[in-house]
Amino acid sequence: MRTPHAVTAAGVFAAGCLARSTTLTPEALVHDVRAGELQSTLWNLNRIANENGGNRAYGTPGYLASVDFVLERAQIRFGRKFDTYLQEFNHTYDELLKISVTGPDGEGLPVVVSPIYNPPTPTEGITAPLLNTPVDKAYGSMCWEDQWDGVNATGKLVLIRRGGCDVHTKLTHAKKNRALGVILYNNVGPKISKPTLFAEKIDDALPVGIIPRNIGMEWASRLDAGEDMQVTLVVDTILETRPSWNVISQTTQGDPDKVIMIGAHLDSVPEGPGINDDGTGTTALLEIMEAVEHYEGYPHSIRFAWWGSEEGGLVGSTFYTSELTPEEADKIKYYFNYDMIGSPNPMFGVMSDNNSGIGAQLLEDYLTDAGKEVTYRQFDNRSDYAGFVALGIPSTGLFTGEGEHDPCYHQACDTIDNVDLDALTLNTKAAAHALGTLASSLEGVPKRANVTPNLRRRRKTATNFQLWKTLAEEAGRGHSCAHGKMKLTV
Ligand SMILES: *[C@@H]1O[C@H](CO)[C@@H](O)[C@H](O)[C@H]1NC(C)=O
Ligand SMILES: *[C@@H]1O[C@H](CO)[C@@H](O)[C@H](O)[C@H]1NC(C)=O
Ligand SMILES: *[C@@H]1O[C@H](CO)[C@@H](O)[C@H](O)[C@H]1NC(C)=O
Ligand SMILES: *[C@@H]1O[C@H](CO)[C@@H](O)[C@H](O)[C@H]1NC(C)=O
Repeated sequence: MRTPHAVTAAGVFAAGCLARSTTLTPEALVHDVRAGELQSTLWNLNRIANENGGNRAYGTPGYLASVDFVLERAQIRFGRKFDTYLQEFNHTYDELLKISVTGPDGEGLPVVVSPIYNPPTPTEGITAPLLNTPVDKAYGSMCWEDQWDGVNATGKLVLIRRGGCDVHTKLTHAKKNRALGVILYNNVGPKISKPTLFAEKIDDALPVGIIPRNIGMEWASRLDAGEDMQVTLVVDTILETRPSWNVISQTTQGDPDKVIMIGAHLDSVPEGPGINDDGTGTTALLEIMEAVEHYEGYPHSIRFAWWGSEEGGLVGSTFYTSELTPEEADKIKYYFNYDMIGSPNPMFGVMSDNNSGIGAQLLEDYLTDAGKEVTYRQFDNRSDYAGFVALGIPSTGLFTGEGEHDPCYHQACDTIDNVDLDALTLNTKAAAHALGTLASSLEGVPKRANVTPNLRRRRKTATNFQLWKTLAEEAGRGHSCAHGKMKLTV
């Protein structure tokens, strides 16, 4: 179902005399959303990835070209009514050059997955006896200090079952127990997901290779039967600080003390062009921005954000929110997040919490009126709303799903062919409608929640950035250079 646009007297009049009502209304914004233009921007992002090694990931030329693409529109084409700037931040760039695990019989394993920020081994790798560790399905294997009692990991590569706590926790215990490295076997199968070890905690981690469940279980039972096994782990990575950017663009109209904000991330994963994730959010924002440019007369300012380094751990958006003073945070009355809104087998998910108020309701109503079944999903800190939610800023977003909804999630096949254009168009209209509504009225918008732990969180983020900087400086001082880039070696 389309939202009626021309049924109002003003609309009919405007269409009749070829002039256009210039007042921004939700219906006017919805009317201006064009499927063809959404598609055209996706096509351009796909081209940018193709011309830059197949991705648009942070720290790469594909990301720079994506920033240029958005800037050309935000600053030049629609520049008349927006103030646009780049916000620079630093982050740890991580590029895996090689990972391998060689088994006790000299066999190379077909699949070994490396977490993000996996610390490198020496070039020749670590060859050591493999030590099995107990499995605890109730509390997680080797997640707790007392689970290491009686385990002598000194000088060993330790074999641990994944699951129950994050990978980093297991590595921290292994390091305290003087292990040389860790071989994790997946607790589920057959696909192995890629965890992060957190850039700011690199010093607590050990090199790790994640191997398939069946191989890990076989090795565990051979070790339990008393066999001595030597294995080799090789991790070769580039870890270095590189700058990245958020693109922020705000209307010159509207009260700058009452800001409605709308964001999407501009980077892809290194594995692919990121057209559903999150070319769809990127194109939705550009299309809505162009629509906004057509109108006047809205009381609240509108701020667009294309976030950098989302895939590296929400780095750009949390840098942005960590830099806000309490007064600046108070001015942001609402935050909308659009990350993956055109999955090929879409669900219609409204991301929210109990402080989402009218924003989530508007999205739900729009989609329900269009005949879609809407699923509410709790915020889970997996996209750029996290920093806003942590500041107590009322937030919501749309999400059309990964897994069965997007089998190409985080893969090379997340191309222009991986988007349901109808779902994207409908979601962009829902987003335009919700934005247009709040740009005119704050009725039903909750107050910013009182979040006292905030300051601590801000300090923590600041500390993290300091740590990353220190890491980068250390990398520059003492270590070898490879491939013309700084490289950490242990
Ligand atoms: C990023 O790091 C560089 C080099 O250390 C520094 O000059 C620059 O000020 C940093 N930028 C930010 C935003 O912290
Ligand atoms: C642990 O193993 C190392 C290396 O094999 C050995 O030197 C050390 O004595 C052992 N520690 C204990 C407490 O058994
Ligand atoms: C919102 O949820 C949080 C935790 O999920 C809870 O602590 C808080 O009391 C809830 N607030 C309201 C107004 O329901
Ligand atoms: C999200 O992160 C915040 C701050 O780190 C934390 O308090 C909250 O419990 C997290 N929420 C979820 C659902 O993980």
